[in-house]
Amino acid sequence: MLLQVEGLRKSFGRRVAVDDVSFSIDVGEVVGFLGPNGAGKTTTMRMIAGYLEPDAGQAKVFGIDVALDRRRAQERVGYLPEGAPLYGEMTPWTFLRFVAETRGMDKDAARHAVTRAAQDTRLGEAIQRPIETLSKGYRRRVGLAAALIHDPMLLILDEPTDGLDPNQRQAVRDLIKRLGKERGLILSTHSLEEVEAVCTRAIVIHRGRKVADTSPAALAEQYGGLDAAFRTLTGGEEGL
Ligand SMILES: Nc1ncnc2c1ncn2[C@@H]1O[C@H](COP(=O)(O)OP(=O)(O)OP(=O)(O)O)[C@@H](O)[C@H]1O
Ligand SMILES: [Mg+2]
Repeated sequence: MLLQVEGLRKSFGRRVAVDDVSFSIDVGEVVGFLGPNGAGKTTTMRMIAGYLEPDAGQAKVFGIDVALDRRRAQERVGYLPEGAPLYGEMTPWTFLRFVAETRGMDKDAARHAVTRAAQDTRLGEAIQRPIETLSKGYRRRVGLAAALIHDPMLLILDEPTDGLDPNQRQAVRDLIKRLGKERGLILSTHSLEEVEAVCTRAIVIHRGRKVADTSPAALAEQYGGLDAAFRTLTGGEEGL
């Protein structure tokens, strides 16, 4: 099993952000996290990626407990954070080289990895410009390239197509489908169309709880469309 999540829980003060979430993922699965703003998608992803300690429960990547052996788990995980804060004065080339070397690659390996990731994310000539001068969509591509740099088996992409133009969105969806064939992939999105287009599975999260976990087709069939499924499953008020 590529990823096993069991009884994951996280509170901020009195607010329960993630409440007893369990699921597992195999190679070849592209899992879409769906849920309203504040549902707990990002918090769940951060715990799986090893950037936030759970209060209870665990995430295991190839059997490695993320909280207990973070470094070894993170070698197998690529994570695109929400919004992707990046080093503004660096060019993508310098930044990605830095990420690759932080991952323990020597100069040659780092150069190859950066070139490949830049091609996969279609960075083009933007690779030579300071990141702070790039448009939002290109900055998103840099974040995606950084997540791919060490060719990880598990990819966790928090709203990977947010802010992209329609052409680029399609390119990233194609990339996700391609990558998902030999890896495991979790993405969050507010686009039901995107779930339909790329995901083999949809996990719906509402108020920190998993309220559905099935194929997009089965979900749509059960509720008479994905829109209806989303509305029915997450109809309540959301806390901010
Ligand atoms: N660092 C934090 N401190 C306090 N509360 C937090 C923190 N991070 C998240 N929360 C709260 O946890 C809950 C879940 O937030 P989270 O970011 O996981 O939601 P989300 O599903 O990713 O939403 P969105 O679709 O808006 O990205 C929200 O109530 C949020 O306000
Ligand atoms: Mg989020």
